Amino acid sequence: MILAIETSCDDTCAAVVHRGEILSNVISSQAASHAAFGGVVPEIASRHHLELINPIVEAALAEADTSLEDLDAIAVTRGPGLIGALLVGVSSAKALAAARRLPMVEVDHLHGHVAANFLEPDPLEPPFLCLIASGGHTLLAGVREKDHFDVLGQTLDDAAGEALDKAARVLGLPYPGGPEIQRISADGDPAAFRFPVAMTREKGLDFSFSGLKTAMVYAARDVGADLDLRRADLAASFQAAVVGQLTAKLGRALDASTWPAVALGGGVAANTLLRERVGEICDERGITLKLVPPTLCTDNAAMIGAAAEHLVPAPHPEYLSWDARV
Ligand code: KG4
Ligand code: ZN
Repeated sequence: MILAIETSCDDTCAAVVHRGEILSNVISSQAASHAAFGGVVPEIASRHHLELINPIVEAALAEADTSLEDLDAIAVTRGPGLIGALLVGVSSAKALAAARRLPMVEVDHLHGHVAANFLEPDPLEPPFLCLIASGGHTLLAGVREKDHFDVLGQTLDDAAGEALDKAARVLGLPYPGGPEIQRISADGDPAAFRFPVAMTREKGLDFSFSGLKTAMVYAARDVGADLDLRRADLAASFQAAVVGQLTAKLGRALDASTWPAVALGGGVAANTLLRERVGEICDERGITLKLVPPTLCTDNAAMIGAAAEHLVPAPHPEYLSWDARV
């Protein structure tokens, strides 16, 4: 039985996982505290993690009806992420593990997003192709083993979620912007504005979203006083361009090698249009599509526990010298 801790960004998370089963998965989102600033403020995130980590760990143990005495290991996200935020999780995990001389497992945050697919019910067995799109990362992971993945392509600048968050801000929508863009896109025309679906002519599987973001700044400036009338059209067209690039690269990766299954991870994987489009691509090719629930797409500690189950733990006291990896 593994207690997992995840504090890489603005969610304070703890979970108890046992052989792929989630016994508890507690998440405290700080989004409301960062909303006034239009994005995550690292120092505020660290302070919140400090205040929340002990009650969140206690809640995860209580919900799983277990205690520190029953644990076999502690898992923690060691990176990548915000240094101050990660340090709260790593220090807390070290203290808990050392108190019981338990072994500890360090988990890469992105491996966690991949490993969300290993959880019950219907765990997905490798090989599969995993598209991870979040506020901090956008990459295509080739997963052939449960203990690691290959990066087949990644963003050269902004992450897909970051672009959605910035576009939302330009449109006067609150943070986090991805769900807001999705919500108002329902009333908009995705063909109303021509946003560049970047990188589709370039070879390779890398992504780029910064040009798209700049295009939104200009488009919003051009509509000027008509922003209220055109907001839904701008949002729908922008969402279509983001999803268009993600699916174009996914299709290209499926052309390049044979993958029997596709999975999605990261906060942007909660997007309905992306889920539908990827569903169509998989149907056309006769490939299995694995969609974990949105709560396992966004940051959580159950996915960290799921990754840890396939990694080698470090014995006490080896891990006491661990630092966060940014
Ligand atoms: O994985 P996540 O919770 O945190 C990071 O590791 O970044 O992803 C958060 C990102 C934010 O940019 C948010 O706007 C985006 O995921 N997001 C969405 C949706 N829900 C969350 N983007 C598009 N559509 C959604 N429904
Ligand atoms: Zn994440």
